[in-house]
Amino acid sequence: MMLDRPVLVSGRSSRNGSPLRPPYSSTSSTSQTDIPDDMHPVIHAGRVAVITGGASGIGAAAALELAKLGLKIAIADVNPSALEDVGKQVAAIAGDSNVLVIPTDVSVLEQVVQLKDKVYEHWGEVAVLMNNAGIGPKGTSWDGIENWKKVFDVNLFGIVNVQQTFVPLMIHQENQSMIINTGSKQGITNPPGNAAYNASKAAVKSLTEGLAYELRERPQPNVTAHLFIPGWTHTGLTGASSFSKPPGAWSAEETVLYMLDKVRAGDFYILCPDNETRRELDQLRIMWSADDIVQGRPALSRWHKDYKALFEEFIANGLAGL
Ligand SMILES: NC(=O)c1ccc[n+]([C@@H]2O[C@H](COP(=O)([O-])OP(=O)(O)OC[C@H]3O[C@@H](n4cnc5c(N)ncnc54)[C@H](O)[C@@H]3O)[C@@H](O)[C@H]2O)c1
Repeated sequence: MMLDRPVLVSGRSSRNGSPLRPPYSSTSSTSQTDIPDDMHPVIHAGRVAVITGGASGIGAAAALELAKLGLKIAIADVNPSALEDVGKQVAAIAGDSNVLVIPTDVSVLEQVVQLKDKVYEHWGEVAVLMNNAGIGPKGTSWDGIENWKKVFDVNLFGIVNVQQTFVPLMIHQENQSMIINTGSKQGITNPPGNAAYNASKAAVKSLTEGLAYELRERPQPNVTAHLFIPGWTHTGLTGASSFSKPPGAWSAEETVLYMLDKVRAGDFYILCPDNETRRELDQLRIMWSADDIVQGRPALSRWHKDYKALFEEFIANGLAGL
């Protein structure tokens, strides 16, 4: 496993070398729909994945799954010892020279710039940029100002820092690449209980939609953006260090495999189910939430005592009609 040494890896020791390439040329582009699954241009052996929050949970599972598919893996996290452990597991699959372990706090722009420099010095490109680092300390709307700042610094500005640093290089790569930002259902339906986290994830949805638009409007749209919306996944964030996986949750591996299927298919919104909530139920909850505005109902009417029965009827009718 490589630690964060700024040393160029030789093409021979590194699988399917992916050197710096000339700027993208439209004549060399290939439509994604022409390509079979095992020949996806981005999720492809020899290409490079950068995963923030890679020391645990969904990020660690993504590193392992992408390594199994033959990608070179750079993992970044604020937890250096856990990052080392995951690095060893990835190296056991991918080989030492195909793993970079780079301790990074995504909320600090200088550290993100160092992450970018190390990845490009070693491998000269990024195919999959997975903005996955996230935290969720609890706070209400009117207290815990320090938590609010911390949550936004990591969940929102962590992604902004990475996008501002990596995207200017990715758009000039010849090969296609993708950016996967991790949002949350809590950033869409806004359940009461953790206002700062919900607001940060709502901002991630907004920023990723904007990114997707800006990228697709470019003359050579060779970078795509995706909003990854995990369901209930058993990870550090949801108590994995204290209890074993509840039946309703998915494992991190299940969530990552679902995500990979959907990014391969080119989906922007990757709305993951779990063992408790199927997609149809999520869809109805999202529609009810959007309809609060259209119908002029109180905020978060789903959790308002006067609307509880109506909401339950809406869901029951919706599911019955399927
Ligand atoms: N687990 C779920 O049910 C669930 C649901 C929806 C969304 N998510 C999102 O999935 C993402 C991954 O979370 P997870 O569930 O795997 O939790 P996790 O706690 O297991 O992993 C998050 C990782 O991010 C790292 N991290 C925290 N702050 C960081 C920083 N400043 N810089 C770099 N790394 C940092 C942590 O050290 C940790 O390794 C998060 O964005 C989370 O909000 C999780």
